[in-house]
Amino acid sequence: MLRTAMDRKVVLVTGASRGIGLWTVRHLLRACRVVALSRSRTPELEALAQAQPDDVAIVQGDVTKGADNQAACDEALRRWGRLDALVLNAGIVDHQLCADVTPERFSHVLNVNVVSVTQTVRVALPALRAAHGAVVIVSSAAATSNIASWAAYNASKAAVNAYARTLANEERDIACFPIHPGIVDTDMQVQIRANDQMPAAQREWIASLHRDGKLVPPEKPAEMLAALALRGTRTAPVLDDGTAVGADGTFLSWDEAVLTAWRTGERV
Ligand SMILES: NC(=O)c1ccc[n+]([C@@H]2O[C@H](COP(=O)([O-])OP(=O)(O)OC[C@H]3O[C@@H](n4cnc5c(N)ncnc54)[C@H](OP(=O)(O)O)[C@@H]3O)[C@@H](O)[C@H]2O)c1
Repeated sequence: MLRTAMDRKVVLVTGASRGIGLWTVRHLLRACRVVALSRSRTPELEALAQAQPDDVAIVQGDVTKGADNQAACDEALRRWGRLDALVLNAGIVDHQLCADVTPERFSHVLNVNVVSVTQTVRVALPALRAAHGAVVIVSSAAATSNIASWAAYNASKAAVNAYARTLANEERDIACFPIHPGIVDTDMQVQIRANDQMPAAQREWIASLHRDGKLVPPEKPAEMLAALALRGTRTAPVLDDGTAVGADGTFLSWDEAVLTAWRTGERV
């Protein structure tokens, strides 16, 4: 059957202005259309929209605002009549020791990193169900970590993993992938390196990753996030024990063998 322009999938990416989100948009644009829900309109994102004006819609907005999430979903349906997947990437880190933590700063991190995820999904659900689509959530190894001064961030990433498992269980037409993108060379790492609340040993470890060129370039995990958004389903990829990760909401790192093998089509 002849494929038409209408066949191309549409993916909504949050936090598309820079870092992992911007790279995810770049990868997606090789194969589909993108609604970029972006708080800032950076020159890099604008350049993508100028190069592929028929394939990119930038909706300027804040993920914590319900109206902005709604506007992004509406834009996908208005322009292209479909919404197939979400890459929920927008996130912040903030550092306070538990002895000092304030409700304002703790809840702000949870609001941006968790509550916004639940609200973008909520408004997108009817379209995602119709598309048998995917929700890719950019989580973190922090979900299982105890690094001092990271309480809010750690809690937020543990919470999105719990949310992802629940969403995968409730919504039987949608695949859900909470993914750790690695320790990635973005502005967030610049902020983390400047954190003077961390113990010296952990500061040195973080600094050494940068100094020794061991940070992951953002384009690498972004490529996996894009692949999962476009091709991840409730039946693939599958773990050795038979668990279909998209139906289970299994938390995985972007470079886990099961994902790499699934992308390349090779056996582990
Ligand atoms: N970098 C790492 O090592 C690492 C490791 C594990 C997980 N992650 C996760 O990966 C994701 C992306 O991080 P990154 O490293 O690419 O960080 P980044 O370079 O700091 O980019 C963060 C992105 O989130 C956006 N954002 C923040 N708050 C927002 C809000 N309220 N509304 C809309 N957009 C908002 C930012 O927009 P503005 O440009 O407008 O600020 C920016 O596009 C985050 O969820 C982060 O937790 C990162």
